[in-house]
Amino acid sequence: MKIYATYNIKGGVGKTTAAVNLAYLSAADGYRTLLWDLDPQGAASFLFRIKPRVKGGGKALIRGTKALDDAIKGTDFENLDLLPADFTYRNMDLLLADGKPTRKIAQLLRPLAVEYDHVFLDCPPSISLVSENVMHAADVLLVPLIPTTLSVRTLDQLTEFVAGFNGRQPEVRAFFSMVDRRKRLHQDITAKLSAERSGVAATPIPALSLIERMSVERAPVTAFAPRSQAARAFRALWDELSADGTAP
Ligand SMILES: Nc1ncnc2c1ncn2[C@@H]1O[C@H](COP(=O)(O)OP(=O)(O)OP(=O)(O)O)[C@@H](O)[C@H]1O
Ligand SMILES: [Mg+2]
Repeated sequence: MKIYATYNIKGGVGKTTAAVNLAYLSAADGYRTLLWDLDPQGAASFLFRIKPRVKGGGKALIRGTKALDDAIKGTDFENLDLLPADFTYRNMDLLLADGKPTRKIAQLLRPLAVEYDHVFLDCPPSISLVSENVMHAADVLLVPLIPTTLSVRTLDQLTEFVAGFNGRQPEVRAFFSMVDRRKRLHQDITAKLSAERSGVAATPIPALSLIERMSVERAPVTAFAPRSQAARAFRALWDELSADGTAP
């Protein structure tokens, strides 16, 4: 089981959009895939038309009184399941605070290894115990970057933070998100960083209004417009990210 997490301390950079489309493509490729919507706002759950509700709330999941398995829902797509958000996830930091506070999510996911090939974690923006748990659980941290000089600093800070972990460290894979072809600065920064840094994907995700339509269609753009430029960009990114994976 390989765990991917979309993460950025910043909000509105394309974390959920990437998690939803990459999870869909993973499932379409035949991998048994689970997406855990960890954001109390429940955007990923909304996009898959699933009620953002877990009986007993985040508390029951974190305390282990409810197995993750019992909260998982099927989506409209083959091989793709969703563990929904719940508004109580806003208090997740308090629930994680005792015992081994940064390893709980990793522990909870372990039994799912028999059922899933890929797990995607969609993290809320912030740096918190939840995000630290996600970083310890993940094999790959997928970091959407808006092409600005400051976002590059964010990536450096994250890479440094993860390098300080004892034991297992996730691989940090950044990709450019919401790239505007008409902006010279976007072109310059994406070209320069993709070439210079090994952890930055060669495939950028362009800024496209069809991607915004996901919230109207309530489906991944890779599902409702598979031949669009938007879908092709996510396909190229997924092919790049999964190139080192094993076939299902
Ligand atoms: N490549 C893109 N082109 C155009 N719009 C995009 C693109 N990626 C995301 N968006 C839009 O930008 C908004 C924020 O995207 P998204 O929800 O994926 O970001 P996020 O990082 O998960 O945000 P949050 O931090 O609030 O969880 C959404 O309305 C989404 O439709
Ligand atoms: Mg989000």
